[in-house]
Amino acid sequence: MATTASQNGADLETQPRPQSGGQSPAPIIKVDSVWKVFGKNPERVLAPENIAKSKAEIQSQMGAVIGLHDVSFEVQRGETFVIMGLSGSGKSTMVRCLIRLIDPTAGSIVIDGNDITAMADKELMEFRRGKIAMVFQHYGLMPHRNVLDNASWGLEVQGVPEAERHQRTRQILSMVGLGGWEASFPRQLSGGMQQRVGLARALVVNTDILLMDEPFSGLDPLIRRQMQDELLRLQEELQKTIVFITHDLNEALKLGDRIAIMHDGRVAQIGSPEDIVLRPEDEYVGDFTQDVRLESVLTASKVMVPPKATVMGHQGPRAALHTIGESDGDAAWIVDRRERYLGLLTITNAQKALRAGVRRMDEAMNYVDREYEAVSPTTSFDLLIPRAMSSDYPIPVTDADNLLVGEVHRSALAEALAETSTTDPDYEANAAANAALAAEAATETEPEQAES
Ligand SMILES: Nc1ncnc2c1ncn2[C@@H]1O[C@H](COP(=O)(O)OP(=O)(O)OP(=O)(O)O)[C@@H](O)[C@H]1O
Ligand SMILES: [Mg+2]
Repeated sequence: MATTASQNGADLETQPRPQSGGQSPAPIIKVDSVWKVFGKNPERVLAPENIAKSKAEIQSQMGAVIGLHDVSFEVQRGETFVIMGLSGSGKSTMVRCLIRLIDPTAGSIVIDGNDITAMADKELMEFRRGKIAMVFQHYGLMPHRNVLDNASWGLEVQGVPEAERHQRTRQILSMVGLGGWEASFPRQLSGGMQQRVGLARALVVNTDILLMDEPFSGLDPLIRRQMQDELLRLQEELQKTIVFITHDLNEALKLGDRIAIMHDGRVAQIGSPEDIVLRPEDEYVGDFTQDVRLESVLTASKVMVPPKATVMGHQGPRAALHTIGESDGDAAWIVDRRERYLGLLTITNAQKALRAGVRRMDEAMNYVDREYEAVSPTTSFDLLIPRAMSSDYPIPVTDADNLLVGEVHRSALAEALAETSTTDPDYEANAAANAALAAEAATETEPEQAES
């Protein structure tokens, strides 16, 4: 019979979202009240009478520059944590302090249980080498080394024998789309390709943590988007902890599980992309995000419900019709024994299969619409809306293993947009835009790729 029993609300959390707030268990990075003041006698800026002053006041009155102002955050294992802010807001200072390329003036930084603010130089160097890899905006490739030797540099430093390091590096190069380019030199590569070499160089050493300081900002918009997609794809596979710096809000929203917005050395807000856009905590963040369209931050996970009618491949059309009847809908999802999604069976096709004497649906897959594609829990409304408008059936949602984890109904999309728009008067303008967009989407046949 139908296998909906195992689907409950708990199953819907397919992607363990790191909890926001400070109390999550064992963060891999814990930054606690970190200050960085540039200039003479930086400590005096932290004296009680100065501590509340703004960056501008400190600069004009004391001639010191505040890089970081009492910054605290935690990063969970496997999370992509984005630090976003305008030029000069302290992003690079923060990553540099994280690995103590510069020393914080005050505060503590604990990485994987190690207090790195207390480490001696040698210990620190070894710790960095084994734990953290970095990708910079300027790729910093060595011009006289070919791609293979540039990318395998970290392994060379570790003393890994040549045959072994070349083998591993070749694997990584093909993973980042550079298979076949091993013998080329940096000058023979485009900017995007050079950045891929930079990424490969960071990945070969296989550290838990990847720090990326504006890695894509030197690239053309199109290449930049490709690199973002590539990073998302790689991350699904590698599950590293990534601290990603950017001054581009769209990039932050696209890549970040959580985002810290920095302003004048302080953290203005930390939250999920949805938090940042829908619940800005101050005017600064609100101004920053006011032009972001809701459809680009709301995702399937927000509105999906457990699948209502699921039929196993070994079941027949009679069982399918029964399940569809119970579900109040017009179709069922066909899944295999392990609940991996196979396709859509409409009520009409189930009736046809029954008349044709079909005994098992998996032996009569011509009745099943296998082209009816599933989306992932992270698919944005931008893609879901046109898709929902082009079909009378819900949209199936599967996880990375193709397990059916939910379904999205057109009405739920509209409700979520309306709800988000009306709970906060500021978003009424968005509601109008949403309605226009939905109307527009209805006339489209092809879902359009979201521009970021
Ligand atoms: N070595 C330094 N000496 C003095 N001031 C510095 C130094 N490094 C950074 N600062 C100051 O600290 C503040 C933060 O700089 P930081 O480089 O971290 O900004 P950022 O957010 O990375 O900016 P960008 O987007 O331009 O890279 C700025 O006001 C900058 O002038
Ligand atoms: Mg910077």
